[in-house]
Amino acid sequence: MEPRPPGADSVPSIPKPKTYDLVIAANRLPVDRVVTESGATEWRRSPGGLVTAMDSVMHTQPGAWVGWAGEPGSPPDRFDEDGVHLVPVGLSAEEVHRYYEGFSNGTLWPIYHDVIVAASFHREWWAAYQHVNQRFAAAVAEVAAPGARVWIQDYQLQLVPAYVRTLRPDVRIGWFNHIPFPPVELFAQLPWRGPLLEGLLGADFLGFQRQADARNFVRACRQLIHAETRAGSVTVTDGSGRRVRAAAIPISVDFKGLEALAREPSVTARMQEIRRSLGDPKLLMLGVDRLDYTKGIRHRLKAYQELLAEGRLGPPEVTLVQVATPSRERVAAYQHLRADVEQTVGRINGDLGVMGYPAVHYLHHSYPREEMAALFRAADVMLVTPLRDGMNLVAKEYVTCRFDLGGALVLSEFTGAWHELHQAFSCNPHDIEGLKQTIMRAIDTPAPEKRRIMRALRRRVAEHDVQRWAARFLAALDAAPDRPEHGP
Ligand code: ADP
Ligand code: F6P
Repeated sequence: MEPRPPGADSVPSIPKPKTYDLVIAANRLPVDRVVTESGATEWRRSPGGLVTAMDSVMHTQPGAWVGWAGEPGSPPDRFDEDGVHLVPVGLSAEEVHRYYEGFSNGTLWPIYHDVIVAASFHREWWAAYQHVNQRFAAAVAEVAAPGARVWIQDYQLQLVPAYVRTLRPDVRIGWFNHIPFPPVELFAQLPWRGPLLEGLLGADFLGFQRQADARNFVRACRQLIHAETRAGSVTVTDGSGRRVRAAAIPISVDFKGLEALAREPSVTARMQEIRRSLGDPKLLMLGVDRLDYTKGIRHRLKAYQELLAEGRLGPPEVTLVQVATPSRERVAAYQHLRADVEQTVGRINGDLGVMGYPAVHYLHHSYPREEMAALFRAADVMLVTPLRDGMNLVAKEYVTCRFDLGGALVLSEFTGAWHELHQAFSCNPHDIEGLKQTIMRAIDTPAPEKRRIMRALRRRVAEHDVQRWAARFLAALDAAPDRPEHGP
C-alpha cells in the first residue's frame, strides 16, 4: 500500500467532475430554461433541427452535452436528463447580444446563407465570440474523459475545435456544420476569416451537409490561408503536418421513432380533428418553419396569394396552415420579417378569405412532436421553399410521417434535403411563376404517381436516418488521419 501523507484523513477531498467518452458541444442545450410570469422555472425543448437530431442520437449512448440554457445570467447547475449529462454554459446579457444575436446571427448567419440580408461586422461582437468559444472549450475540457470523442456543433462554435485541442490534445475532435458553408467569395468578406479557418482546423474531422459545402471549406483554406489541400483534406498551417478531413455527411431524422409516433391512434385522431377544425378543406397546404428570412416564407405566401387572386385556388376548398416558430426575436432582420409576414397574412385573409374560412391560418407557436406529426399527416401539400437551408429536416419529417403514401412535397432546390429528395416537386422559390406551377403540379398530379414519388422519398430517408448519420460521423472521426496518442 502507498504510504498516506500525515493528516490525509482530515483533508476534505474535492470531488472531480464525472467525465464522459462522448461530449457534445452545441450553442444550445436540448432544453431551454424559461422563467414564467409567476417566477417558476420551466425547462422547454429548444427550437431547431440541431436539437431534434442530436437529441435522438444522445439517447442511444451515454454522454455529456455542453450548451447554453437559452437565457442570460449565471448558468444553472449541471444535471442529468433522460440519460444525458447536461453542462450549462452561462452567457451574460451582453454576450447574448454580441456573441449570439450579433456575431453568430448578425454576421455569420447572413454570410453563410447567401447574404439574403446584409451582414454586420463589429469588432466587439468578434471579441465576445472568441471569449464565449473559449468558455465552451473549457467546459468541454473539464468533462471529456481521456481520449474522449468531442463532437462540436455548428457555426456558433467554430473556434472551439482549436481551443479544445490546446487544452486537451488527447481527445478526438469532430465538428459538424448544420448550415451551408459559403463560397469563398462570400466567406472572404469576413474580417476574421483566417482565425475562423484556423479554429476549425483544430478538429480531426469536419462534417458538412453537402459536398459543395466541404469543397467550399477546402477552397477557402487554400485561397485564404494558403494551406496545402487535397481533395477532401487540408494540412494545417502550423508546420506539424497534421491533416484534417472535410466531407459531406448529411443529417437526417429518427425515421423509425417518428414513423411510430405518426402511426399512434392519438395522432390519427388529432389529424382528423385538425382537418375538421379547418372546415374539412378538400386541400390542405402546410408550411412549418422557424420564422427566418432564409425559409422563403414571403415567396411562398406571394405564390399562394397570386394563385388565390387568379381564382386557381381558394377557400373554403383550399386552405394554408403556416406554422412559424418564434426565432431570434431581438434581431432586427427577424423583427422586420415577422412584421412583413404578419402583414401579408392579414392582407391575404382580408382580400381573399371567406367568412369563417380564412385563406391562411397563421400560428406563431411551438408545438409538441405529436402535434407536428398530426399536422404532417393532415397536409395534402407540404411547402418547403427556403432560399438557402443547410438541410431542412421538416422535409424529411413530412415524408417520414406519410406512411400512408399520401401527400406531396414541394421542395426548394436550395435546401440540403433536395440533394437527397430530388424526386420531390422541385422549385426555385425566387421564380414565383415557376413556384405557382410547381404547387399546381403537386396538387394535380394523379394519386398513383404521387404515391410512387412518396415511396421513393421515404425509402431514401428510411435508409439514411439520423442513427446512420451519427454512426457515419463517429466512424469518420475515428478514422480521421493523424490520430493523436491518448494520454492517461
Ligand atoms: P432549422 O434547424 O433551421 O430550424 P429544420 O427544418 O432543419 O430547420 O428543423 C426544424 C425543426 O424544428 C424540425 O424538427 C421541426 O419539426 C421543428 N419545428 C419547427 N417548427 C416547430 C414548431 N412550431 N413547434 C415544434 N417544432 C417545430
Ligand atoms: O442549424 C441551425 C440552427 O442555428 C441551430 O444551431 C439551432 O439549433 C437552430 O438553428 C435554431 O436556432 P437558434 O438556436 O438560434 O434558436
